Amino acid sequence: MSKKPVKATKKEVETTGHSWDGIQEFNNPLPRWWLWSFYACVAWGVVYSIAYPAWPLINGATPGLLGASTRADVAVEMQRYSDANGPIEAKLVATDLTAISADPELASYSANAGKAVFNTWCAQCHGSGAAGAKGYPNLLDNDWLWGGDIEAIHTTITHGIRNTDDDEARYSQMPAFGKDELLEPDQIAQVVQYIRQISGQDADAALATEGAIVFEENCASCHSEDGTGDRAQGAPNLTDAIWLYGGDVATLTETVTNARFGVMPNWSPRLSEADIRAVATYVHGLGGGE
Ligand code: HEC
Ligand code: HEC
Repeated sequence: MSKKPVKATKKEVETTGHSWDGIQEFNNPLPRWWLWSFYACVAWGVVYSIAYPAWPLINGATPGLLGASTRADVAVEMQRYSDANGPIEAKLVATDLTAISADPELASYSANAGKAVFNTWCAQCHGSGAAGAKGYPNLLDNDWLWGGDIEAIHTTITHGIRNTDDDEARYSQMPAFGKDELLEPDQIAQVVQYIRQISGQDADAALATEGAIVFEENCASCHSEDGTGDRAQGAPNLTDAIWLYGGDVATLTETVTNARFGVMPNWSPRLSEADIRAVATYVHGLGGGE
């Protein structure tokens, strides 16, 4: 069975009397509720633009009668925070670095404030969990390039590493043995096998034996006789299989051929002493601190 289609009866609508090429214009006024909402919006817009900052000017905008300013709100809020933190920051700066973590109040403040500083300023290089990346050291382990006690960490953060902005930045430079022709390619291949051997990886024993001599003559002055590194020069331990750049043959060959030059900015011009101390304490507390 099929239903008969019902024909809609067309309601008669008045026309406006306009007609173009035989097409007539119906007179369908806007619904009342719509029209009044529209007027209300216009009125609200006028009141708002007088009360609040609204009309753009060349430098800024009309201020508005209520003087509302989210920028000023932020300044007030920041002032409130710094007033609240003022005393504890002063105490943090006045306390001996080595005594900070023993003071429960300072330790908990540093853990929180230091973490915030870290996430804002350090995470882009060292990773949000501080686990590092190629060329950016892991700060969670106890393998330190420049030293892992609180004072060494504080110095590293304050002055940075190999930057040109701070005269006291930590500095050292590994020679580019291949690029500057200090070693022949076969000597590089030998010393690379030697490093593979002392870091406990698969190595060609014959090449490694030759490599030991190359190492002794060219590398030991920085990486120490036994390859365990030298913090005074930021020369990494090569025996622990914790790599800053990598321990595979290709990466080692690249490191020895062209050397590396890891740069970290100095934070003293960017962060307050309290913030530097907080983040140093935070990094020290991450697990590898000495
Ligand atoms: C632009 C990238 C960059 C940023 C940002 C950065 N670092 Fe570093 N950081 C490095 C590099 C690269 C090294 C390793 C340099 C080297 O090879 O000796 C390093 C080394 C360190 C070391 C020394 C680790 C060791 O083993 O001795 C510490 C500590 C450190 N950073 C802490 C921080 C803290 C805290 C911040 C934030 C306030 C920060 N870094 C921000 C790039 C950065
Ligand atoms: C003048 C000191 C100096 C000498 C000499 C030197 N190195 Fe280095 N070496 C460094 C420093 C400093 C670094 C870290 C560079 C950085 O972090 O940017 C480094 C890094 C390395 C690395 C990277 C380790 C990693 O964790 O990825 C390897 C491998 C290495 N050196 C091997 C050698 C070998 C092999 C020689 C000898 C042929 C040698 N170095 C000689 C100072 C030296």
